[in-house]
Amino acid sequence: MKKIFVVANWKMNPLTKREAEKLFSEARKIKNKNCTMVICPPFPFLSLGKNLSLGAQNCAFQKSGSVTGEVSPYMLKDISCDYVILGHSERRRLLGESLETINKKVKVAISSGITPILCVSEETKDELIAIDQIREQIQVMTKKVSFSKIIIVYEPLFAITPGDPCPIHLAAKRRVLVKSIISKINSRAKDTPVLYGGSVDEKNCKDYIEEANFQGLLVGASSLDAKKFKKIVESI
Ligand code: PGA
Repeated sequence: MKKIFVVANWKMNPLTKREAEKLFSEARKIKNKNCTMVICPPFPFLSLGKNLSLGAQNCAFQKSGSVTGEVSPYMLKDISCDYVILGHSERRRLLGESLETINKKVKVAISSGITPILCVSEETKDELIAIDQIREQIQVMTKKVSFSKIIIVYEPLFAITPGDPCPIHLAAKRRVLVKSIISKINSRAKDTPVLYGGSVDEKNCKDYIEEANFQGLLVGASSLDAKKFKKIVESI
């Protein structure tokens, strides 16, 4: 049986170390042997997450050097951080991150030994444009990248909190699309885990796994509520 990933994306929350410690300690109580649970807090809280699988929410596009304000994936790996979320639509939209820059980040993260959790989104309700967007994002962000070293998340823009969760039938269709795009690029990509993200909660989480066949979930808002997050991880 394939392991299911549940990735908690805390985004720019919580605001205090005390609250972060509380969330980490609740996360340590969660039990599900079939699931790899990855917690992605903001950088200042990463070192509080001992004995948990950790991910960062960004990394630099190069290994080291004069890049003020950036954090090398090599530094992250050195503090036991094994994953990094890259390509999130919030960083592309609000911070102007380009697909080419994300591709550089993916490559340097892999070279440091970190697994990129690469987000692919669609930004329109127009079916044909959406399909083109997904294809272009995947092609550019994964250029010269081994599909055995990454995890992909399908996360439509309209579904991110406070949006509405993506209907299961549409999510299922997009999972098949993502799988077919990556398999055309590289036949070994058939084993690349594809996750769903966008307004996942304790009520809809199972449907994305069991009905839409995703190999895991990227959970934002619901991961900041310890009870909801425990329900999500333990119910799948
Ligand atoms: P959400 O966020 O679960 O709050 O919609 C998911 C994400 O953007 O990672």
